Order: sequence, then structure tokens, then C-alpha cells
Amino acid sequence: MENLLQQVENLKEEMKNFLGEEKDQAEAFRIKFIGSNGSVKSLMGEMKNVAAENKREMGKVLNELKLFAESKYEELKKIAGGKPKITESTIDFTLPGDSLSIGSRHPISIVKNKIVSIFQRLGFSVAEGPEIEDDWHNFTALNLPENHPARDMQDTFYVSQDPAWMLRTHTSSVQVREMEKGDLPIRIICPGRVYRNETISARAHCFFHQVEGLYIADNVSFADLKQTLYFFVQEMFGKDVKVRFRPSYFPFTEPSAEMDISCLICGGEGCNVCKHTGWVEILGCGMVHPNVLENCGIDSGRYSGFAFGMGIERITMLKYQIKDLRIFSENDLRFLKQFVSAV
Ligand code: DAH
Repeated sequence: MENLLQQVENLKEEMKNFLGEEKDQAEAFRIKFIGSNGSVKSLMGEMKNVAAENKREMGKVLNELKLFAESKYEELKKIAGGKPKITESTIDFTLPGDSLSIGSRHPISIVKNKIVSIFQRLGFSVAEGPEIEDDWHNFTALNLPENHPARDMQDTFYVSQDPAWMLRTHTSSVQVREMEKGDLPIRIICPGRVYRNETISARAHCFFHQVEGLYIADNVSFADLKQTLYFFVQEMFGKDVKVRFRPSYFPFTEPSAEMDISCLICGGEGCNVCKHTGWVEILGCGMVHPNVLENCGIDSGRYSGFAFGMGIERITMLKYQIKDLRIFSENDLRFLKQFVSAV
């Protein structure tokens, strides 16, 4: 009996000073003291050896020990954040799992890829150029010499002034780089980001995206240009969409034109989007100016070509009926998530 009482005291002391591994403290305590192979149980087993007249008192002592162990266990559980260790029996396998949200391509990338794949089917390949350009490739070679008034329409951000290095204002600069390589014929499209010093609004931003197209070979005519762009519009927007060309001016093309498509919102009836004209402008184009060919070392007496340039934001806004282009760069998941299935 004396011996047993001593053991009870020792065990109590041990419990008080118990320090298990921090994250599993409560569980380690349970296994060591309360579990079926724990010390409390084994002391209880000693009851059979206790003399009959002491049984009552010893039973009381052991019972107190058990209660002490249990309250200490509850205490340790609380310290561990009230989270009992998860055992198999506490996991409900019928609960739905944590869902992973699926990312999606940005609508500008979706439309860019679509434009690229349409022109690839016509034999165009992709060419790219730097976003920081020199004056020659962005302006001068494109028949926009210094002090040309048309430069005003494409004010940009200058990285340095003398010599002038700038964020390119259009992807037409990639035309120049490709023509300078001198491998003819050329049949390229050039997607990329461009920059302008513009006030940001629903229709304009200081950066946006363009796709430039260029075809230079023997006997390229305006009819080739029209047919190529007509094919593009039908593939992009559907067979019912009508196309019209209006004469325009660009320094790097002669003749130049702007191309409109019949309004996708009202079908040509007239609405706010088309400003009640039934038409919306989607790109500029024309026959490459002989000065541009010569500037790039191409014999303008032998070769001719067409070029066009379109804004990807504009095409995307028309395709998905988006009214404000600022939303493209706001990273609003409520907007971006709508394109999960539009690969
Ligand atoms: N570079 C022009 C712009 O940014 C777009 C453009 C118009 C490109 C006519 C062309 C073209 O290649 O022929 O406004």
C-alpha cells in the first residue's frame, strides 16, 4: 500500500512536469498516462494486490489520480488551440474537398492568339520586335521624318532624348526591322504592346496592344489587301459581318484606308456603340509607301506590298461587348474569370 501510494505521488509529479513535443503535447500525454497502455491504467491493475481493508481507500486515491490526469489532458488540449489531433475517425470523407480555382487566359491574349491563328492559316508568320525603340524604326523609316506633323498623333514616353529612344507607339516598327533583313518575300504579323502619352479613358490608355501585318512580294495589289482582311473579318466575327473601306491618310502607306465592319451590336441599324452610323472602325491599312520600301533597302520599282495595323483591345471589346478598356488592366477577377472557358 505504502509503495503504491508513493507511485501515485510520483506519477502525479510526472504529469505536472510533463513536456511533450509542442504540437502533439496533448496526444502524447494521453498515450503515456490515460490510454489503455498508460501508467494510470497499469497502476489500477495493482488494485488486485491491495489488501481487502485498504481497497476502499486505495480505490479513492487511484480515482483521484485518474481525474487529475483527465483534467490535465483537457488543459493541454486547450493550449494546443483546442484542436485535438485528427485521427482517422474524425475525418469525414464524404465532405466535398477544397476546390482549386482554375486560371484563365487574359481576354487580350485569347483574341491575340485567335488573330495570329487566322493569319497563320494564310501563310503569315509571327515576328516580334523590342518595346523600346529608336527614332528611326518607330518614326523616320516609316516616312515620318523629324518635325512631321503626324508625329503629334503618336506622342510617347521618351527613355532618352539625344539620341531618341522611346517606348514604341505602334508595332509598325517591327515592319521596318523585318524589311531591313532583306529576306523577300515577307509575310508577317507582329503582335505586341505599344505605348502612348494619352489621357486614360474608357477608349484610350497609355499602353495597349496591336497586331501589325505586312506582305511584300512581286505584284501585291490593293485587291490582295482587301481579300486578306475580308477573310480575317469573317473568321473573327462571322460570315454575316459586312466590311467597308474608307480613304484615309497614314505617312507609311499610299493609298491608305481605314476599314470598318458593320456594327455587331445593332447589326447596322444604328446604336450608341456605332454612334448611330451602323459601322465601327477596326483598323488602318494601305499599300506600303515607296519611301518606306527604299528606306529599308527594298527596290520599290520591283516590289510592292500592303500593311495593316489593328488594336487588339478594340477587337476584344467588339467581340465580347466590353464598354471600357480600363478593365483589361485592373486585374479584377470577377471580370477575368468570365473567360475561363474561352480558350
Ligand atoms: N501604325 C498605325 C497606328 O498605330 C496603324 C496602321 C495603319 C498600321 C496603317 C499600318 C497601316 O501598317 O498600313 O495608328
